[in-house]
Amino acid sequence: METKLLRANERAIECAAGLIRAGEVVGFPTETVYGLGANALDGKAVLKIFAAKGRPADNPLIVHISALDEIAPLISGDLPESARRLAAAYWPGPMTLILKKSALIPDEVSAGLDTVGIRMPSNPVARALIKASGCPIAAPSANRSGRPSPTCAQDVFEDMDGRVPMILDGGECDIGLESTVISLADERARILRPGGITPEMIECVLGGVDVDPTALKPLAEGQIARSPGMKYRHYAPKGKLILIDGAPENVKAALRARYAEEEARGHKVCLLLPESMIPDFPNARAYSLGGDLSEASHRVFAALRQLDRDEIEVAFCQTFDTRGIGLALMNRLDRAAGFTIEKV
Ligand code: TXA
Ligand code: MG
Repeated sequence: METKLLRANERAIECAAGLIRAGEVVGFPTETVYGLGANALDGKAVLKIFAAKGRPADNPLIVHISALDEIAPLISGDLPESARRLAAAYWPGPMTLILKKSALIPDEVSAGLDTVGIRMPSNPVARALIKASGCPIAAPSANRSGRPSPTCAQDVFEDMDGRVPMILDGGECDIGLESTVISLADERARILRPGGITPEMIECVLGGVDVDPTALKPLAEGQIARSPGMKYRHYAPKGKLILIDGAPENVKAALRARYAEEEARGHKVCLLLPESMIPDFPNARAYSLGGDLSEASHRVFAALRQLDRDEIEVAFCQTFDTRGIGLALMNRLDRAAGFTIEKV
């Protein structure tokens, strides 16, 4: 199959919507990461997403809507008060709400669960595409399963060339990390995957929220994943990624020592560093993650993909503060590193 990469103007969006209506799969931008979309009410179309990604069938998809009144047919019963308040505060935006699903949601979308994840994205191309398609759009991140999520159209093309008929190019994603997934299926709200809407922001609206322990820890042996996606190896570069955790001066010294050690072993090595640390390593290969947590979040997936393009065998990165969006950043870094963390 030939994959068209089109700048997301009105005509291209209309064309992509035609493909969605015809049961095909299209790559498109959102404010978080690029998605791989299909008609969420068409189980056969949704199966094509799983095939294009190589995604395990037991990992459910998020359903994207463009207006709040599109939600009622997708869920069973009334929208809970907690959902209403969160939606009013943070939709459109990087937040997915897990709710009891209606019979309209095919099993292919919910992977056999009795719940469905729903999100109203803020990216104008994503919103125009949903509107023009005339149906909710099921979309996971547009990477091949296991790879870092795509934050520009070129990343999607790298993974999906020949696998989907069209990718809409809407430039770089604003946030760069996937949405916050919040389960409202039980009594108390629970963050299953941290993202752009931080625990602090949710607490502000609901008064309290639990953060699933898998946010910063691997799933324990035998533990059931509340969010099936959390049990898979994820976001990982082809080489090794090692996180260094400790006081700033210790981290700097360890980065220097470990870099030299791996280089002496004949490995191609790279550092992922905050901008302010770049001058401290004039002779090392290093990518900048920018000046603060939100820049690091914006750049981290692109950096992980760059490691692969440069065929890096071992990369080192410091850990980050887990306040605010730092929790989402560390959740992705922990998984990209397979939880390999050296304490110094
Ligand atoms: O920002 C995002 O959320 C992006 C853009 C494209 O919207 N989408 C995205 O989808 O990241 P995906 O499929 O890569 O990740 C969805 C996560 C997975 O960890 C999945 O297991 C979880 O959400 N999830 C989806 N539906 C669920 C459900 N009903 N119950 C529990 N977890 C669910
Ligand atoms: Mg994903």
